Amino acid sequence: MEHATVITQAPGRINIIGEHTDYNNGFVLPAAIDKKTTVWLKKNDHPSRCKMTAGNLQEELVFDLSNFQPKENGWENYMMGVVHELQKIGAKFSGFDCEFEGDVPIGSGMSSSASLECSLATGLNQLFNLGFDKWQLIKACQMAEHNFVGIKCGIMDQFASTMGQKDQVMFLDCRSLEFEYFPFDLGDYQLLLLNTNVSHSLASSEYNTRRAACEEGVRILQTKFPTVHSLRDVSFEMLLQMADVLPSKVASRCRHVVLENDRVQMATKALLNKDFKQLGQLIYKSHFSLQKDYEVSCPELDYLVQHSLDKDYILGSRMMGGGFGGCTISIIEKERVASYIDLISKSYRNQFGVDLSPYAVSIEDGAGLVD
Ligand code: GLA
Repeated sequence: MEHATVITQAPGRINIIGEHTDYNNGFVLPAAIDKKTTVWLKKNDHPSRCKMTAGNLQEELVFDLSNFQPKENGWENYMMGVVHELQKIGAKFSGFDCEFEGDVPIGSGMSSSASLECSLATGLNQLFNLGFDKWQLIKACQMAEHNFVGIKCGIMDQFASTMGQKDQVMFLDCRSLEFEYFPFDLGDYQLLLLNTNVSHSLASSEYNTRRAACEEGVRILQTKFPTVHSLRDVSFEMLLQMADVLPSKVASRCRHVVLENDRVQMATKALLNKDFKQLGQLIYKSHFSLQKDYEVSCPELDYLVQHSLDKDYILGSRMMGGGFGGCTISIIEKERVASYIDLISKSYRNQFGVDLSPYAVSIEDGAGLVD
């Protein structure tokens, strides 16, 4: 875009471990990555007309700040949702033009949506001198997704995209919102993402269904344990005590969340102790729990994880993000990366007729201005 006055970027994210725990007030261990969305912004002369251009798609949206509604679907809802949520917390805008472009693969579980929302929110905050702090922006972006996109997501993605720091993973307590940075160095190992390049359409509806099952679990648990407010307050022993009362699907959803929270804490310790074997084991356990108890995996993801199990140079592998497609994240010996990509790409193509996309991502800073 010509004559942009503000340019911002916000990255996608990885998550080492802690899936579907964020909206249950639990723990997550994400980091921002070197794939991002860039937004160019300028005020236009109109009091309320906005124009947004999706550079990658060559699509355009024009809307009026005084009257706009979500569309059935599409990138427009993320953008208008951010504008709407910022207005709700007091932002006063005039007409503006914006254009964005990004390289976070869509539907990959790397959160292209948060990178889009957070780059726009950061940019508008600057362009209109709104003075919101990072947490206000994070929460507005999360609410954009709830209210304009229709996914009742947790806070992990917008948090990671905004607060990320180079070479650091973040341990976030989604209840208190306290967090800590930890240096991420895997020694002779590295992370490898393998994008299945499938994105099953169940993803958005099933996401909200899972969330509802967790809430149902909490309501039932409260009948015996009145101090429980979320699955964060629940132990495995408490689940066992309620085994006869909880419907079996609800019980298995709850079991995933309760044990996944434990795994995040153990994984953070393992990372600090440089016990990569232990970290890898926890990552495998996370996958099998997401596959069997939470039921958000799919045959393509399971295939990739299954094929890493007998490779001693891969310490752990699991599906990443909401599920039903997207990427696996694995810990693999640096020297074996190229040969493994070769091997797994061939067998994946034979099995599913789809090409894998491998990514060796690096951990980078979160949202910010571009000079
Ligand atoms: C999506 C959501 C997050 C989180 C993950 C699953 O990425 O946006 O809030 O719930 O799924 O861990």
